[in-house]
Amino acid sequence: MRIVLVGPPGAGKGTQAAFLAKNLSIPHISTGDLFRANISQGTDLGKQAKAFMDAGDLVPDEITIGMAEDRLEQADAVEGFLLDGFPRNEFQARALDAYMAGHGIALDGVLDLEVPEDEVVKRIAGRRVCRNNSAHVFHVQYSKPATEGVCDVCGGELYQRSDDGEDKVRNRIEVYHRETEPIIDYYKQQDLVVTISALGPVAEVTQRAMDALRAGERR
Ligand code: AP5
Repeated sequence: MRIVLVGPPGAGKGTQAAFLAKNLSIPHISTGDLFRANISQGTDLGKQAKAFMDAGDLVPDEITIGMAEDRLEQADAVEGFLLDGFPRNEFQARALDAYMAGHGIALDGVLDLEVPEDEVVKRIAGRRVCRNNSAHVFHVQYSKPATEGVCDVCGGELYQRSDDGEDKVRNRIEVYHRETEPIIDYYKQQDLVVTISALGPVAEVTQRAMDALRAGERR
């Protein structure tokens, strides 16, 4: 399956993507995680992306699209993928369509996670991420690590992302409404969108997502 995951910052895209990718045996490709890995490795790409990410703005399309396409070229993504955080505006969505058309492939679905804004703010304020791997995500209230400040998966230090401060989050939510939400309509025109509520326990949301994707596949 080839799926795009959309939703506001803090909706639980990364959390759900980890389970969905495992259930569907496809790689979870997060452009946010790719940027963070580049930043921690000190690459040129990471240096270019950092200021935009710290401000909660989108990294320019020419950097992002090239990075995403390079990742899609890797062997594990040939049979399918779950894209988390890409595309994030209509220009990127059109670039992805062109890339896939050029490879004779197409999307199977776009999963839209709906969460009210007050819940998003609570989720982001309490999020803690592992320094070793930003895909290891916890929450001080909803998904506590066994030992405070320590990653359950690998023992790494948990920290608060630099773009998770209140002012940055407000900007990220505005950027989402202005730039990213319009791609839901873009994909609705292709009859690809399944929308689910991302409220409730993580496992229930995963089940809802799996049911919605399977129903979308049968359509
Ligand atoms: P990115 O890393 O993609 O951030 P985001 O889209 O803002 O999403 P988040 O990672 O904040 O949240 P999430 O939805 O994954 O939620 P999570 O699962 O962690 O992008 C960061 C930046 O990179 C962007 O601002 C931009 O600068 C740049 N960038 C990335 N892609 C780009 C692109 N394509 N173009 C340009 N720039 C790009 O969950 C949040 C918290 O809630 C966690 O603590 C979790 O434990 C908790 N939680 C999850 N589910 C539940 C639940 N059901 N109940 C209770 N708590 C829950």
